Amino acid sequence: MYPETMRDKVKEYMRNERWNHRNATAYDRYKKVSDRRGWGRLMNNILDLDKNSRILDFGTGTGFMASILAEMGYAVVGVDLSKAMLDRARENIMAEGLSDKVYLMQSDGENLEMEDNSVDCVVSRWVLWTLPDPRKGIEEMIRVTKPGGRIVVMDGREKHRNVLQRFKNSLVDFILTQRHPLWRKRFEEEINRHLPRYSLKEINEVFGGAGLRDIEIMEEVEEITENWIHRAVFGSGWSTFLITGTKPEPE
Ligand SMILES: C[S@@+](CC[C@H](N)C(=O)[O-])C[C@H]1O[C@@H](n2cnc3c(N)ncnc32)[C@H](O)[C@@H]1O
Repeated sequence: MYPETMRDKVKEYMRNERWNHRNATAYDRYKKVSDRRGWGRLMNNILDLDKNSRILDFGTGTGFMASILAEMGYAVVGVDLSKAMLDRARENIMAEGLSDKVYLMQSDGENLEMEDNSVDCVVSRWVLWTLPDPRKGIEEMIRVTKPGGRIVVMDGREKHRNVLQRFKNSLVDFILTQRHPLWRKRFEEEINRHLPRYSLKEINEVFGGAGLRDIEIMEEVEEITENWIHRAVFGSGWSTFLITGTKPEPE
């Protein structure tokens, strides 16, 4: 593990540069072409919760999953490190008329300002890879979940792409984000080597080590969430996996 100061540097970068206002706008535009119904279908299949349940959307970003969960009737707490992403989430949630179902809060996922056992479920999509200490993030998810509650982590890995696919992805990226295709390069070069980016196997080990039960895994989630047109046109070089487990009741 690298020194504390490096961890702080990564957090500063995530908070103020990687997810700043300009990038939040670009990210949101990209995510808006996602198949909302498909992600809703996935959540419906995975979550078997009472409608009064309170769900934490860990690293909510621009609120894509938070708004889907709120539309399903749940009360959602959306937490994110970046104010710019939360501002955008707030605008989206308001425009969708879901403000009374979603509470947004700026907090570090590795050190959540939330009580123990305070939510019925945690959902987190594409956040663990951005954390300098993903284990701490998972431990925090477990801490704030009530015994018997479910933790649903979605993260991903780069897919192998040929030259043509890379070109298509860069073109779509450019059209949607209006950023030079290499805009992520600086981020990737400077910061990526300080991100442990847990694999599915490593997350599974942390889940198992923490005593989570009924662990289930799904790979290639986009095959369920995105229809073929989305996959063909917007499909990125990223493949999402999902892992879920239940926090045990105390002995
Ligand atoms: C790829 S985006 C995913 C956003 C959203 N979950 C989604 O599915 O669209 C990663 C998000 O993680 C947030 N993030 C990064 N580090 C974080 C931390 N330490 N605590 C909370 N959120 C963090 C970023 O600000 C960003 O909004």
